[in-house]
Amino acid sequence: MPFSAPLDFDRSGKETRNLALRWRRRYWPLMPTMPDREALKRAVTLLAEGKVGAIPTETVYGLAGDAENGEAVARIFEAKGRPQFNPLLLHVSTRAMAERFAIFDTLSDELATKFWPGPLSLVLPLKARHRIHPLVSAGLDTVAVRMPHEPMRSVIAALGRPLAAPSANTSGRISPTSARAVRDDLGDRIAFVLDSGATSVGLESTIVKVEGEVIRLLRPGGVAAEEIEAATGRLVERVQGEATIEAPGMMASHYAPDAHMRLNAEAVETGEALLGFGPVRARGHENARSFLNLSNTGDLREAAVNLFAFMQALDAGGARMIAVEPIPDHGLGLAINDRLMRAAAPRA
Ligand code: TXA
Ligand code: MG
Repeated sequence: MPFSAPLDFDRSGKETRNLALRWRRRYWPLMPTMPDREALKRAVTLLAEGKVGAIPTETVYGLAGDAENGEAVARIFEAKGRPQFNPLLLHVSTRAMAERFAIFDTLSDELATKFWPGPLSLVLPLKARHRIHPLVSAGLDTVAVRMPHEPMRSVIAALGRPLAAPSANTSGRISPTSARAVRDDLGDRIAFVLDSGATSVGLESTIVKVEGEVIRLLRPGGVAAEEIEAATGRLVERVQGEATIEAPGMMASHYAPDAHMRLNAEAVETGEALLGFGPVRARGHENARSFLNLSNTGDLREAAVNLFAFMQALDAGGARMIAVEPIPDHGLGLAINDRLMRAAAPRA
């Protein structure tokens, strides 16, 4: 995925600008716009003081705090209004930083080499001596770790310490894929929001845990299980249904909009909004209260990028029920269906 400028960028003058514009248009919204240096510096200063704020990654915006500072970690739970202390994901800027607190087996090492930086989180045993605050791991002797893309990676590098960061939303709500979604939800409960536009992946990271020779999928996400299989030549063990709750944060109802959701809809009922996928098939779609298509061409990657923003938009339109067209259960479709099922689950 193109996260850095192509070589053509090195040319100077107008030609470069045109190329840059063309390139941006082509890959938008894959390319993150970096926040300016002052905003980055301010974020690092606030984090060093134990404050928490929203920082974009390629997946979703994270609500980040210094993982070695217990007060900062507590502030994260407070701002999210999390009902329990679920373990948080740790973000690092280098492999060496991860090795300060986590133990890599051979297979996890291979996964990190092949997928970092990127949307793959590894559950690893904690080292005996480490500085991660126990609230981050909720007392477990393992941690979930990943190396994110810019701009979060630069912030971590400047801080020199790992960041704990769940998605930057109130507990149980949709994960934010834009700075605006963060501000609307968390507003003044956090010290800053770094803005780098829309995120490029749009879904949280995939979480896996290596057990001996087996790679277990704990949460489907931005890296498809098939991509991991292609890269390692090993089968990824998919965990069915409720078993995924092994990742303690994975309560059944999660990612919930205000509207209720009806999945695999073949037809639109009166008053419903429609979330489509591919060429529109749902009967009565012309009568939908509002309609957004995750991907006209049936592209799962495009659908992943749009998912949370479109759920939010249909929700904001005041629909009581959102009908969702069927989405194939392979590749990124597995993660999309997982999020949709959680959004549709009965509320606590
Ligand atoms: O893309 C992402 O992963 C985003 C961005 C901000 O990086 N982060 C994110 O973090 O989704 P969070 O904290 O919302 O989700 C982390 C998940 C939770 O479901 C948690 O239960 C699980 O990881 N988890 C954390 N530590 C774990 C552990 N030691 N064993 C199993 N699951 C763990
Ligand atoms: Mg979350």
